[in-house]
Amino acid sequence: MSTFEKQKEYIERLSNYIKTYRERNGRTLTYSVETFGCQMNFHDSERLEGILEEAGFVKESSDKADVIIFNTCTIRENANQKLYGHLGTLKKRRLESGDMMICICGCMMQEPTVIENIRKKYKYVDVVFGTFNIHKLAELMVRHIETGEQIIDVEKEAAEHVEDLPQKRKYSYKSGLNIMYGCNNFCTYCIVPYVRGRERSRIPEDILEEARRLAGDGVKEIMLLGQNVNSYGANFYTDMESGILKANPDYSFPELLADVCKIEGFERVRFMTSHPKDLSDKLIEVIAENPKICRSVHLPVQSGSSEVLRRMNRKYTREHYMSLLKKIKDRIPDISVTSDIIVGFPGETEEDFRDTLTLVEEAGYDQVFTFIYSPRTGTPAASYPDKIDEDVIKDRFDRLLKTVNRTTNERVKRFEGKTLPVLVEEIDKDIPGYVTGKTEYGTTVHFKANERLIGNIVPVLMKEHKGFYYMGEIVLQNEKEVD
Ligand code: 5AD
Ligand code: SF4
Repeated sequence: MSTFEKQKEYIERLSNYIKTYRERNGRTLTYSVETFGCQMNFHDSERLEGILEEAGFVKESSDKADVIIFNTCTIRENANQKLYGHLGTLKKRRLESGDMMICICGCMMQEPTVIENIRKKYKYVDVVFGTFNIHKLAELMVRHIETGEQIIDVEKEAAEHVEDLPQKRKYSYKSGLNIMYGCNNFCTYCIVPYVRGRERSRIPEDILEEARRLAGDGVKEIMLLGQNVNSYGANFYTDMESGILKANPDYSFPELLADVCKIEGFERVRFMTSHPKDLSDKLIEVIAENPKICRSVHLPVQSGSSEVLRRMNRKYTREHYMSLLKKIKDRIPDISVTSDIIVGFPGETEEDFRDTLTLVEEAGYDQVFTFIYSPRTGTPAASYPDKIDEDVIKDRFDRLLKTVNRTTNERVKRFEGKTLPVLVEEIDKDIPGYVTGKTEYGTTVHFKANERLIGNIVPVLMKEHKGFYYMGEIVLQNEKEVD
């Protein structure tokens, strides 16, 4: 029996349990999945929700749900603290209710110290699993129901990738699609390679099949996901077992991207994240020549100092990064480039930090995500000397934010007065009668329109620039679009 078939059986058993519960108690069991962290985790959570829905659980808010799953992140220490806070709040409710089940999963669970802590101090948590076995959710829940014990199932490495798991998409019109898992880069500050394992690419046929299915379901915008999409195809999943499928130099990320664009139904194709060391000329060409690919690339620089980059093991220099950026912008001048920057990496001098400020000035980013360095146990940088003083970090962080806000505002202003295609995404929570949407550049725009337009791409005049977002006006094709 394949892993997938085995899991189908567990889903069936879970669903029988729910039926019996309904007959006895006159109500259906509910669930809530709380997700922290990155796009990968959000995508994994759609899989968890898919399994729960298939079993027959009904979605509910976290303060009322019977089954609560926390899909955790551990990229920075404050992400870990968040989980413990939530668990503390739930303790009383869990101990008083025999129907309730708390499950925790995701990156944090791959850390042995976390598991030890949960075993000792959080005995009321029912099910614990890691990043490599989310497909086993139903099995682990059944095991808990049948034994009443705390079930902990964390693997050190990925054994296989289970295709065809059910998925409950949060948005009908857009979806993420994993093209690869894990990371081989070992940036010295980063815990991802330890908690997500070695880089494994899915085979093109599986990816394209899933993409076609999503397009058939009405998805208009697809986001290809990987920690480093530019090394797609270097290590295939099946390599570990059969050794048959080797990297094909003629089929890497640019070719895959071009093939995804050929699928009818998609109007927008996005991808993230791009490591600057691997972004090829061919990829730039594919983006430039393909109107479906959004003019938007996330290209994290992390620091503007070549010396800090060396100690971060980023494998490029400031000069390489800037020449890559120039190449991209020369070929696609209006492109939006976004970045991540870490402040306070061990040994970062005032001069290093100023190099980061000047890089931000020169780069012309549309958006920058700024982070304070957080030591992660087990990563090389956690034991580097010359830790930076907290006050110094705070001061640098504030200065960086000012530079980032000023320069990104200047850059985003280029759209003012232009009419751009906008994917209508949600009802505006603050202004009645308004919706929010996104341009292909990733810029958010608020405008008055009928909520029935959600999921459609409409022309919007980018009327008023408000910093990182716009107030806009729909360009009417017919009156009904507004009211
Ligand atoms: N401390 C601070 N920021 C980090 N990032 C990754 N690891 C750390 C860390 N230990 C940031 C990087 C990365 C983003 C997803 O998170 O900038 O690109
Ligand atoms: Fe972490 Fe570096 Fe891999 Fe990104 S490329 S996930 S920062 S190790």
